Parts: sequence; C-alpha cells; structure tokens
Amino acid sequence: YIGHESLPRKNSHGIELTDPIAAEPMKKAVATTAGASWAGGPIIDGVASTGDQTVVNPATGEPVGHTADTDAIQIDKAFTSAAEHQRAWNRLGGDARAKILDKVADLYEEHMNELVAIICREAGRTLNDGISEVREAVDFCRYYANGARKHFSEPTVLPGPTGESNELSLCGRGVFVCISPWNFPLAIFTGQVVAALAAGNGVLAKPAEQTPCIAHRAVQLMHEAGVPQKVLHLVTGTGAAIGKPLLDDPRVAGVAFTGSTETAKHINMQLAAKDGPIVPLIAETGGQNVMVVDSTALPEQVVDDVIQSAFLSAGQRCSALRILCVQDVIADNLLGMLKGACDELTLGDPSKLETDIGPVIDEKALGLLEQHRERMQQEAKPLFAFDESKRPQSGTFFGPQVVEIEDFNLLKREVFGPFLHVVRFKADELEDVIRRINATGYGLTFGLHSRIEGRAGAIFKRVDVGNCYVNRDMVGAVVGVNPFGGMGLSGTGPKAGGPHYLFRFANEKTKTVNI
Ligand code: NAD
Ligand code: ALA
Repeated sequence: YIGHESLPRKNSHGIELTDPIAAEPMKKAVATTAGASWAGGPIIDGVASTGDQTVVNPATGEPVGHTADTDAIQIDKAFTSAAEHQRAWNRLGGDARAKILDKVADLYEEHMNELVAIICREAGRTLNDGISEVREAVDFCRYYANGARKHFSEPTVLPGPTGESNELSLCGRGVFVCISPWNFPLAIFTGQVVAALAAGNGVLAKPAEQTPCIAHRAVQLMHEAGVPQKVLHLVTGTGAAIGKPLLDDPRVAGVAFTGSTETAKHINMQLAAKDGPIVPLIAETGGQNVMVVDSTALPEQVVDDVIQSAFLSAGQRCSALRILCVQDVIADNLLGMLKGACDELTLGDPSKLETDIGPVIDEKALGLLEQHRERMQQEAKPLFAFDESKRPQSGTFFGPQVVEIEDFNLLKREVFGPFLHVVRFKADELEDVIRRINATGYGLTFGLHSRIEGRAGAIFKRVDVGNCYVNRDMVGAVVGVNPFGGMGLSGTGPKAGGPHYLFRFANEKTKTVNI
C-alpha cells in the first residue's frame, strides 16, 4: 500500500442551499449570468482564440458561448511548446508543483459561484450538482498536490550491497493528452489535467465539444495560479475534427480519457497503430450498473437511494443505477413506493433550486433516450412514465422512466439518462444475478441493500466491479474516500481520487552508484 493520505488535507466545503442567506449569492450569480456569452475557444501558450461555433444551453437552446475546432497548426504549436517546457516543470519538483495546484484549488473556491453558473448554463446541471462538481475539482487539486509532495519530491532510497547506493525517482512522462466528457465538465476535466501536471507532465487538454466554456475558464484559473502557460494548453473541438491530429502526434507520451467505452476502444486502436513510443492509455468509461435489493432491506431507504442513483443528475453519471434487481417477495410493495417518489420529481430549469432533474445534454442524447423508450414500450412492462404534460416545452428534457424487464440481456449497451430497468429475482437466484452482472462485461458501480450478516462481504468478493456500495446510494464518489473507477468495459484503472492514480502518469527511474 502506497498512499499520501498521511499528509494533512481537508475536502472542500459545500453550500447549504436550503439556508436562504447562504444560497442567496449563488442564486444571484446564476441569475445575473442569464444571457452571458462565455469564451470557449482554444488557449495555446496562454493566448485565447475566439470561436465561430455556438455553444448552447441544453435547458433553453439559447447560446451561452463560442468555441472552435483547434486547427492542426495550433495543435502542433501546443505540442512543441508543451514538450519543450515540460522538462523545466518536471525539474521544479513535486513540492513546488503542489503549491501551485493548491492555489488552483483556492481560486476555484473563490470563484465557486461563477463556476457553478457556467456549469449550470452550459451543461444543464442543477445547482446542487454544480456545487458538488466544483468541490470535487477542488478535492482533486489538493489530493494530487499531496501526491506530488509525497512521491515526486525526493527519491525513495532502496537497499543495496555495501558500497552501492540505490534510489528510485518518479518523473513526468512528457506531454499528456487529457480527453474529458461533458457530464462532469469541470471535475473530470480538472482531475485529469491536475494529475498529469502533478506528476510533472505537459498537458494538452481536450474538453467535450458540448462544454468548452467551463474548461476555458478552468484553464485561465490554472494559469492564474501559476501553471505555466507553455505547459498547459486547451485544445477544443469535436473528436472527429481534432482526435486524429491530437493522438497521431509522435510527442504524445500518455493519454487520459474519460468517456464512452466505444471511444476508448477507438483511441486505444489509434494509439497502438501509430509509429513511435508505446503510449499508455488511462481510460475511464461507461457502466451497466446494478443494485440488488433483498427482502431484508429497509424500503424507505431503498427508494431514496434509487431516486438519487438513477434519476438525479438526469441519470447522466457513469456511476448511475441502470438495473434494479428486487427480490420478488418485496417487489410489489417497493415498486409501489418508488412510483410514488417518482411522481414527486420535478423536471425543469436547472438554475432553480426546486428542480430535481435538468435537461439531458443535447438533441442526440435525447433522441437515443426516446428510441430506447419506444423499444421498451414493445419489449418491457411499463412501471412509471413521466407525465409528458409536465415536460418543459423548450430544451432537451427527458422525464424519468421505470420499466420491468425479464433479463439483463435486453440491454446491450449503457442507456445514458434517467431510465431505470427493474428485474425481479427469487431468494435462490442471487448467485445467478451476480453471474449475470459479471456477464455484462462492465464493472463500474454496484449497490446492495441487505441486512443479512455476511452477505455484503460474500458478494463483494464475487462481483467484478470497481465501486461497491452497501445500504446507501451508489453515486457521488468522494476524492480520497471512495477512489473511483471500474474494470472490464468500464475502464483500465487506476482509480481517480485514489492513492495509485498519479503513478500511471509517471516514468520510474532508478539511480545506482558505486560509491
Ligand atoms: P464520448 O466518448 O462521446 O466523448 C468523450 C470525449 O471524447 C469528448 O471530449 C469527445 O469529444 C472525445 N472524443 C470522441 N471521439 C473522439 C476521437 N475519435 N478522438 C479523440 N477524442 C474523441 O463520451 P461522452 O458522451 O462525452 O460522455 C459520456 C460517457 O462517458 C458515458 O459513457 C459515461 O459512462 C462515460 N463516463 C465515464 C466516467 C468514469 O469515470 N468511468 C465518468 C464520466 C463519464
Ligand atoms: N465519480 C462520479 C460518481 O461517483 C462519476 O458519481
């Protein structure tokens, strides 16, 4: 076990939105940004370019900013600059880099209201989600800063024969390409970039095309904190437009990717096929996440945790609950209660405190969910369908749905939205349920509600997932507390916000001296 938890660190504080005095500044900040137009173009060597493409608010369809596909000349310039200046950044050492990353955390906290406003308008995330996201980003900065202090400052002295000294050092690999998704447009973006920087790498950061403005603001704050402008560059654009020049460049020393399993596989093949050094890929991808509820579970608690896990954040979390397996003897009662709770959910403007579920990210995401709903109307039993008359008229909104299916096999891929599938099982079928979970090939999160002694431990050993949650919800991993990431189709590891993450961004060197 090699951790850096022994160094002092506090997780970022939240804002109590039910307290009107605490919530007022945030509500005001978000309200005053209605009609704002944020910059979302590339930043190369600290120079921001303007963009000609419009970024839209998924809740309204209104423009919120501008972005551009970074062209091949700009990408080449960013690589040249990052490769040259990464060496000095690496030589600076872990302690000095950590101070700068701690400063990034401080600036994020100072700009909490502004960052939440951008996240809310650009990504359609609710205020609560926006706050959690800024906090997670802050935690990543401080956690990886401590990792840099602990592991990248002084070499580790190793034993050796008399007359010989041995030491092991960690250093940056070179230039990392960090590719992030829109669903945690600040937290995941920041986590990847800060980890690569902490380990002594230069970075070309590529945010999702739907959320370039929050990434643009994050990079500005990182530069303001002291991350050299020639070490960290923002390259915006779609995967189709800039993926190839970005990943084919011979100066890529590593790729950190979070997004869909399909894209991760595509990138993996692209990296393997190119000339030059072997490039490591850290991929964090999708899930087909299951919660098992047996007859000893507390129904009220289960309903709360299912709502939280399946529907909040509009179900747009890789960790979100997709398949609820309920023991048959409690199913009717539990599902009745769940329907009642679903009826209470509000769908609408994510900048309003009373909203539970905001929009899905764009028309494409909405279309996929509508297609799935149509398919389920033929192949599944409906349990709950959101009242369409309560759906906002503009924006890409999709109300929560619950259906009962016979078998997991009906779901071939991740359904990324507020769509829950229920499967009933009998007491003697639990072993088979675990086998079917493992057979999906995904392995991200798993939930269990059971009060049977020893059951959680026994299942934990058999279920092939990265994050196992017992008698609680299964989303919202906390940095340093619930290191996050999966296996199989869900990713390569190591876990984000965990003690082993930084090592994958580093090269190891030993020095042996005959004294
Ligand atoms: P996506 O794969 O479509 O896109 C992710 C990123 O990859 C974006 O920046 C996109 O522009 C880029 N990209 C796409 N094609 C590319 C290419 N050919 N070359 C280079 N870059 C390319 O995923 P998404 O829709 O943005 O995100 C949702 C997915 O992310 C879901 O599957 C979700 O489960 C997953 N996710 C996983 C985690 C995790 O930690 N495991 C966290 C969040 C999201
Ligand atoms: N880390 C995020 C969660 O746990 C995806 O929900």
